[in-house]
Amino acid sequence: MTPRRLFVTTALPYANGRFHIGHIMEYIQADIWVRFQRMRGHEVHFVCADDAHGAPIMIAAEKADLSPQQFVAGIAAGRKPYLDGFHIGFDNWHSTDGPENHQLAQAVYLDLKKAGLIETRTIEQFFDPQKNMFLPDRFIKGQCPKCGAADQYGDNCEACGAVYAPTELKNPYSALSGAQPVLKQSDHFFFKLSDPRCIEFLQQWTTSGAVQAEVLNKISEWIAPGEDGKPKMGDWDISRDAPYFGIEIPDAPGKYFYVWLDAPIGYLASLKNYFAKTGRDFDAFMADPATEQVHFIGKDIITFHTLFWPAMLHFSGRKVPSRVYVHGFLTVNNGEKMSKSRGTGLDPLKYLSLGMNPQWLRYYLAAKLSARNEDLDFNAEDFMLRVNADLVGKYINIASRAAGFLTKRFAGQLTHAFDAQGMAILQALRKAGETIAEHYDSREYGKATREIMALADQVNAYVDQNKPWELAKDEANNEKLHQVCSVLINAFALLSRYLAPVLPALAREVEALTGLNLDRWDATEAVKAIEPYQHLMQRVTPEQLQALFEPSPDEAATKSDSDPNLPDPNLPGGEAVAGSIGIDDFAKVDLRIARIVECEPVEGSTKLLRLSLDVGEGRLRQVFSGIASAYKPEELRGRLTVMVANLAPRKMKFGVSEGMVLAASHGDEKAHPGIYLLEPWPGAQPGLRIR
Ligand code: MSP
Ligand code: ZN
Repeated sequence: MTPRRLFVTTALPYANGRFHIGHIMEYIQADIWVRFQRMRGHEVHFVCADDAHGAPIMIAAEKADLSPQQFVAGIAAGRKPYLDGFHIGFDNWHSTDGPENHQLAQAVYLDLKKAGLIETRTIEQFFDPQKNMFLPDRFIKGQCPKCGAADQYGDNCEACGAVYAPTELKNPYSALSGAQPVLKQSDHFFFKLSDPRCIEFLQQWTTSGAVQAEVLNKISEWIAPGEDGKPKMGDWDISRDAPYFGIEIPDAPGKYFYVWLDAPIGYLASLKNYFAKTGRDFDAFMADPATEQVHFIGKDIITFHTLFWPAMLHFSGRKVPSRVYVHGFLTVNNGEKMSKSRGTGLDPLKYLSLGMNPQWLRYYLAAKLSARNEDLDFNAEDFMLRVNADLVGKYINIASRAAGFLTKRFAGQLTHAFDAQGMAILQALRKAGETIAEHYDSREYGKATREIMALADQVNAYVDQNKPWELAKDEANNEKLHQVCSVLINAFALLSRYLAPVLPALAREVEALTGLNLDRWDATEAVKAIEPYQHLMQRVTPEQLQALFEPSPDEAATKSDSDPNLPDPNLPGGEAVAGSIGIDDFAKVDLRIARIVECEPVEGSTKLLRLSLDVGEGRLRQVFSGIASAYKPEELRGRLTVMVANLAPRKMKFGVSEGMVLAASHGDEKAHPGIYLLEPWPGAQPGLRIR
């Protein structure tokens, strides 16, 4: 067999937030496949990167008061604990803002241009005169042209589901500044995907076996001839105007590639970066027809990966993807869909910090994953059952039932003189290897784990028939006991080999126990002796699961604070008046007149001012307040205001804040900026209570 040469990727996560459990699922799915292929002796290079560019990241960076580069570097720095924590073994983690990607994206573009597939067109777009920038659809809001619902995004209405162009919105406003946008012309670059050459290529590529049947179904409407004989595929707008965080278009000052143009090229950039670091030849590898390029992605980004990306590669004279494997979405505890940026339900780092074994999650996801693009649910009860009953109960227990006797009674030495029944079981286990391998190869991990657990059932039936704990009671049964326990350890080692793609750390422990090498799929050697057994895996406890899904104090606070106060433009001040409280509730809040004795900017923040407040206590209180956009320090020094004096001190990035000053603002601050600090009538003195 000639080993396959595989280049494997997972989708590049946006660098605007931490990983959520959906990301981790995708990485685990791909990691299992990669580990399996390596066990089969294939050459695999497995890379990923942060997707750094685009308007949302640029805007998030601005809000955080950082340069986009600093902002994405901060996100990148937080990736490792997740990846290491869940045993996800990327060979390289790079960034689409790396120099390789700048160079590759420009090269791909120039090749497409040479192929006659790039065109410029003048388009009209909304422009924010205050921010001095063209507005992405997501940052334009207004009234739905169909149903009149207020505060709808520029591309579709959440109230009635209508889809429209931002220019159709009634009373549009910029979600960045609140300003009324103006229409402005701009030259944009288009990739001519509607060109007959592209359509023809895509019809051929999509039916070449590169995508799953259900994926082909979804995308064929774009490239199959419609009623008028023409496919629906339009040209793709691949440019954005400055200011934009992205890669500059050659010979087009002020124009940048739209993030989805350079993002997939980031796959190549990460591989190139990795090859440079490890002294391999990137160009030769990519030029080798034997190299297979495999992408694991979620169902929301199918069109980018199965239409735009293959066309970009093909018409720039590059290798096209061999396979695009699409998975469904992970939901948590019955269907709650996770938002893309702010995953809910199951925090991966919290999972780890509770001491929960990452391999439980790997096993659980494997047990539920198939090759189809269908959603799967993380269900706490189901998780506990599969981990405790199957993984620990059926599999781990085999070792714990046999190892002790071997160590105590036979100095850890195994016999190879198996009984006939034991021999038959080991043979059945070996024979199943190819079926299990096929399941892994075709990403039918659920089938693979079911097959493995069925084998474990056979082994456990053998245990129950031979009852080693009974045999051990009488020295006369020594030989039989030795045989049975030796069969069990060999069976356990085989099962461990089959589970190694899913449970890589456990496989290393089983290697230490048995002296075998479990990183090859088809090895046949038997266990000769074992080291003293140490427990290999705990059961998951209901307490752990309860703690996992308990909202942290922070989450609980933001939920109850914000739920009744969703911004609504039809209400006074943009939000509903909060539910009524008794006078006792109000009395709990101790409001005092405070004098702003000192006020200064906070280094590293454009939002905060540091106030030193005199509340008549004979000492000053330090309070950080997010009012820097509205007031200059010198305007505030010496003035009186109102503060909450009994708010528990809060540790912030810049120091402890001992209270809060009161200011008015609109419920939708973005659309209606403005912050107004409270000031008492003349005569008030610091320390007076407000009641
Ligand atoms: N940056 C783009 C991808 C560019 S690839 C050149 C992107 N990023 S993402 O962070 O939003 O998503 C990254 C991957 O996570 C995608 O494959 C997406 O489908 C996947 N998932 C996001 N939420 C998910 C679940 N709830 N469940 C499973 N996968 C999910 O899209
Ligand atoms: Zn509507």
